[in-house]
Amino acid sequence: MLQPVFNTNVCIYDFESAENFVGKEKLDIALDELFLLPQVLEKPNIIDAKDGRSLSSVHLYDKHIVDLLDINNSSIGRWIIEKIFLSAIHLGYDEHRDIRKMKFNRTWANRMYQNCNALAHRHAFDESVIPHLVCIYYYDVPAESADLIFIDDDGDKQNLRGNQYFEYDEEKQHRIKTQNGRLVCHDAKFLHATSIHKSELPRTCLIIEVGFAPYS
Ligand SMILES: [Fe+2]
Repeated sequence: MLQPVFNTNVCIYDFESAENFVGKEKLDIALDELFLLPQVLEKPNIIDAKDGRSLSSVHLYDKHIVDLLDINNSSIGRWIIEKIFLSAIHLGYDEHRDIRKMKFNRTWANRMYQNCNALAHRHAFDESVIPHLVCIYYYDVPAESADLIFIDDDGDKQNLRGNQYFEYDEEKQHRIKTQNGRLVCHDAKFLHATSIHKSELPRTCLIIEVGFAPYS
């Protein structure tokens, strides 16, 4: 589903089989094990995560989530790939890029704990730089989880980081509710933050950055 946000669009899809897809139990365990790795568990918060604990596997090699999902062969992986292509068309990347030549840039998982929120940030600042598209799959989202907040930022687009969401005027914030099985695909240059995670249970999401080749 294409959703207008300020002067652009984002794509939102909900995976119907989020609770019972083939391989879910195995993936649950693999993700729990991922967050127990010393390279993840013993690292301090990434710079974007404020006011609470957040674990991130961004410290591992770039494609580990693609491998963990077995993205080309599993039912959840194939669903994500299909939606990445759909969003690439809906958001107009096919006009300038060969979306059939898709490349995964960085991929990682985040597990956010109570009171944490994420600083406004963007994943790219220039059309020519990958990634072009950022896809966030909300894997495990308890009640009172943090939401995704897009920020209407007419400031310096070269700046990869901004402020905490509550430092922006309300009318500059567009909130997207997070829920189990929701995939949000957005332009990598779009400034976004997350609200405060209020649940006592952690929230887990997967992030996949995608680049598209130029037409030859
Ligand atoms: Fe992000």
